[in-house]
Amino acid sequence: MSDKFEKKILCIGAGYVGGPTMAVIAQKCPQYKVHIVDINADRINAWNSDELPIYEPGLDEVVKEARGRNLFFSTDVEAGIEEADIIFVSVNTPTKTYGVGAGKASDLQYWEKTARSIVKASKANKIIVEKSTLPVRTAEAMERVLNANDKGLKFEVLSNPEFLAEGTAIKDLHNPDRVLIGSMETEEGRKARQTMVDIYANWVPKERIITSNVWSAELSKLVANAFLAQRISSINAISALCEKTHADVQEVAFAIGTDSRIGSKFLNASVGFGGSCFKKDVLNLVYIAESNGLPEVANYWEAVITMNEYQEDRFVKQMISAMFNTIAGKKIALFGFAFKKDTSDTRESPAIHVARQLADENAQVTVSDPKALKNAKNDLADLKNISYEQDPYESAKGAHAVAIVTEWDLYKTLDYQKIYDSMEKPAMIFDGRNILDHQKLFGIGFNVYRIGKPAMTHFDQI
Ligand code: NAD
Ligand code: UGA
Repeated sequence: MSDKFEKKILCIGAGYVGGPTMAVIAQKCPQYKVHIVDINADRINAWNSDELPIYEPGLDEVVKEARGRNLFFSTDVEAGIEEADIIFVSVNTPTKTYGVGAGKASDLQYWEKTARSIVKASKANKIIVEKSTLPVRTAEAMERVLNANDKGLKFEVLSNPEFLAEGTAIKDLHNPDRVLIGSMETEEGRKARQTMVDIYANWVPKERIITSNVWSAELSKLVANAFLAQRISSINAISALCEKTHADVQEVAFAIGTDSRIGSKFLNASVGFGGSCFKKDVLNLVYIAESNGLPEVANYWEAVITMNEYQEDRFVKQMISAMFNTIAGKKIALFGFAFKKDTSDTRESPAIHVARQLADENAQVTVSDPKALKNAKNDLADLKNISYEQDPYESAKGAHAVAIVTEWDLYKTLDYQKIYDSMEKPAMIFDGRNILDHQKLFGIGFNVYRIGKPAMTHFDQI
């Protein structure tokens, strides 16, 4: 091992967060060695190849710049732990599916396993950084597991939650709104916190590096996601009302968003929010509130999830009803499967729910997506009446309906006349993201169904 590096940083977990965050630290800090380890050898092989395991705009360039210079990927967790001064833990923390708290609490088994591996392989004191999103007060448990060692070693646990969004991860990491670092309010805690501030200060302006106590940092991450998800559920709730009253949800969103106290971002009504974290983190917050004897708080936040499920269901129900209450045997083309544009990630994508419900009604569903077809095939592996077609034109041929499920830019510029000509009539289009030119589509001959706006049809609905 070379000693030319100022610091040796390890990250355990080479996923959507560990990979991009550490690649950017390595890019911005060539003086540090950054090593990312994972138990999943396929993932590590992909990180070491030309085909990275995740699609994220700008990621290839960052990895290419740093890999082999000061950025390394391997499965050697033990060796990685032994040489590191600072260890980020970025393993998955999914919703628990068994036992106490099933369906809401975080499953911390991967988390605790890493803590125990760290104790086992360590020969010197280290700073341990929670990068994963965790229930508030996890750092306490982490400290107890780590510091109950008989080697006389001391571990300082920090919370440094990640706020990047997929699809814009590199942009978010290069230019974050803020970096949050929480520590114990002890002399050693504050010293460790300063070490982390110094790392980020290599490229993040000092005023954007926020420090707090460790519990505030842990809780702030869950609260940030809950507030973001709540905004989407709020505007989606209003979209249902708009459809009944002939108000236009985009006009309402614009009108309220110009109030600087409300702000204009995250007010796009949609088929529902997806992604690996919103649902998981809101449910975790609900569970924490329940466990702390606060049922009113828990119910308040749980409604964010209920509203999201309602929105997904509403979308499918509208499709079935618009298609004369029977879709059995009808070809339906889904445009988009990723949970948002510019990512290959399909975790908790509303498209999964939509595809499954349509398949349950015996429709012939064709899925199209520029980056997410591989994941889509895994998500729907148990279904028979699903096919996959990269080319949206092919996928729409002979279809009774097209549904926009992901807001990929490419769907805005397709030749919809050509698509209309190739479809069964009456041709329907369901824009689950409100991204298309609805007047134009209506002019072509489509019956157009939108979120939070009245439908535009060429016939009276039954
Ligand atoms: P992920 O599933 O993509 O990656 C986690 C990785 O950890 C996997 O590759 C897994 O093999 C590895 N792992 C699990 N146990 C391990 C062990 N004992 N040793 C070594 N590797 C191990 O998950 P992700 O999306 O990167 O999320 C990680 C954490 O970051 C979660 O807590 C999540 O809530 C949080 N987060 C995610 C995002 C996001 O956009 N995905 C954003 C902010 C925060
Ligand atoms: C979200 C947060 O934005 C990140 O700050 C956070 O770090 C991350 O979760 C996490 O903890 O995992 P992400 O899920 O990657 O990021 O993507 P978002 O841009 O937040 O979108 C989430 C979902 O909401 C997508 O399905 C998106 O299409 C939907 N959405 C978003 C809407 O329906 N309307 C909007 O106005 C915005």
